[in-house]
Amino acid sequence: GMTLSKICCIGAGYVGGPTCTIIADKCQDVTVTVTDLSQDRINQWNSDNLPIYEPGLDEIVRRRRNKNLFFSTDVKKAIIEAELIFICVNTPTKNYGLGKGRAADLKYVESAARMIAEVANQSKIVVEKSTVPVKAAESISNILKANHRTGVQYQVLSNPEFLAEGTAVSDLLHPDRVLIGGDQTSEGREAVESLCWIYQHWVPKEKIITMNTWSSELSKLAANAFLAQRISSINAMSAICEMTGADVTEVAHAVGTDTRIGNKFLKASVGFGGSCFQKDVLNMVYLCECLNLPEVADYWQQVININEYQKRRFANRIIECLFNTVTNKKIAIFGFSFKKDTGDTRESAAIYVCKYLMDEGANIRIYDPKVTEKKVFSELTNPLLCEDPDRVKELATTYRDPYEAADGTHALVICTEWDQFTTLDYSRIYEKMLKPAFIFDGRLILDHEGLMKIGFQVVTIGKKLHRSNVHRPFSTASQS
Ligand code: NAI
Repeated sequence: GMTLSKICCIGAGYVGGPTCTIIADKCQDVTVTVTDLSQDRINQWNSDNLPIYEPGLDEIVRRRRNKNLFFSTDVKKAIIEAELIFICVNTPTKNYGLGKGRAADLKYVESAARMIAEVANQSKIVVEKSTVPVKAAESISNILKANHRTGVQYQVLSNPEFLAEGTAVSDLLHPDRVLIGGDQTSEGREAVESLCWIYQHWVPKEKIITMNTWSSELSKLAANAFLAQRISSINAMSAICEMTGADVTEVAHAVGTDTRIGNKFLKASVGFGGSCFQKDVLNMVYLCECLNLPEVADYWQQVININEYQKRRFANRIIECLFNTVTNKKIAIFGFSFKKDTGDTRESAAIYVCKYLMDEGANIRIYDPKVTEKKVFSELTNPLLCEDPDRVKELATTYRDPYEAADGTHALVICTEWDQFTTLDYSRIYEKMLKPAFIFDGRLILDHEGLMKIGFQVVTIGKKLHRSNVHRPFSTASQS
């Protein structure tokens, strides 16, 4: 039928939690159960301290929880009761075996599909919301069909999620579009209609786009690849700007006013982070290699390469400006999350900046308004990145207060664009720093002229600031 009364979600993370919360709020006639294997995560969703931070989310969870929104570890029961099941599990980059470092690891998606097949005793609509390679829906469908009980039928839909962390609630409430891919059969179309019915509670009909399953799956990878590509493009420009005296902010403005290009997502920075961009571009690179399209694979791989280059380049610039050595120097790191308004640190550029500085023996003092000490250390001691966790514990310290973090440091490095960093009392910070006091603005958010008036040596991305270039005692080439 077209209407639904019970749905569930497998995976209570950054996508499953917020998405189902909004559905529960907008479809109060539907019972929504969000499940996860992690008891810890579910306990947090049922507490006053949600496992993720998203502006506006707490209030909506509080309003619907235990009315028509439930969080539970009983995945099987939720599957049995639901007519429609969202799969929102993680799909990280594989770190072993075939496709290591590039392919998406579908083991969690597969185990969710197997669990559905094992327990379902009625027909289900299974919605793949996790980001997956093209044709994953077909694999899910194969698993379901090969294990189905008599009389139980499945329709598998692709419904990729486009929310961005930090703005998840408003993205979910006012999506640019909702994408639904399904089989071009009458059963397929009926399943698509049922999912449309959910979204039509609040999304205008013309914003709900339906298409074939493979197009829908590829569109999500394509959208993230285009977004990441814009950042790598402007970051590539920033390197040219630093060498020439052009200003990347001015270039971005001039380029972005062309309506064919548009002005969003053209901000130069220390590089993109987050759990998605790198993973999804690598996923596409691997897909191209498997399809024997090496030129296309190389094209997208370069988006990742420029991002690596940008992070490394920024760290090298810090070291170079600090007279080519940061050994035993104290450096404050402002911001550790991968962007503002989230506590998520996955693939954050700050991790790499910290690592490169610690490789040179720097003492780093980290302040972030939303990231816990535990999370900072688990990122910095991640075995894929770090050989000596004891050394990290020696070199890195976290602070709850930005002024304390900056006290007695040689340099301050902005890694995340948190709004509060623009309103700190930089005169007060300057007084307590060693001189010359350096600020490295990796996000282009500070008032550079104002900081230079206070006395700071200011170094930023994509721009030469005249006075900051005075302190280059070891560079012999004439600078300007
Ligand atoms: P996450 O890691 O925050 O959440 C995934 C959750 O699934 C975890 O809590 C895990 O315990 C749970 N899980 C794994 N296997 C399970 C199973 N068999 N049964 C029950 N629970 C299970 O991941 P996140 O960030 O929510 O991402 C999920 C998917 O959505 C990924 O494919 C990602 O690429 C995609 N996506 C993520 C966006 C983001 O901003 N984080 C945006 C758009 C898409």
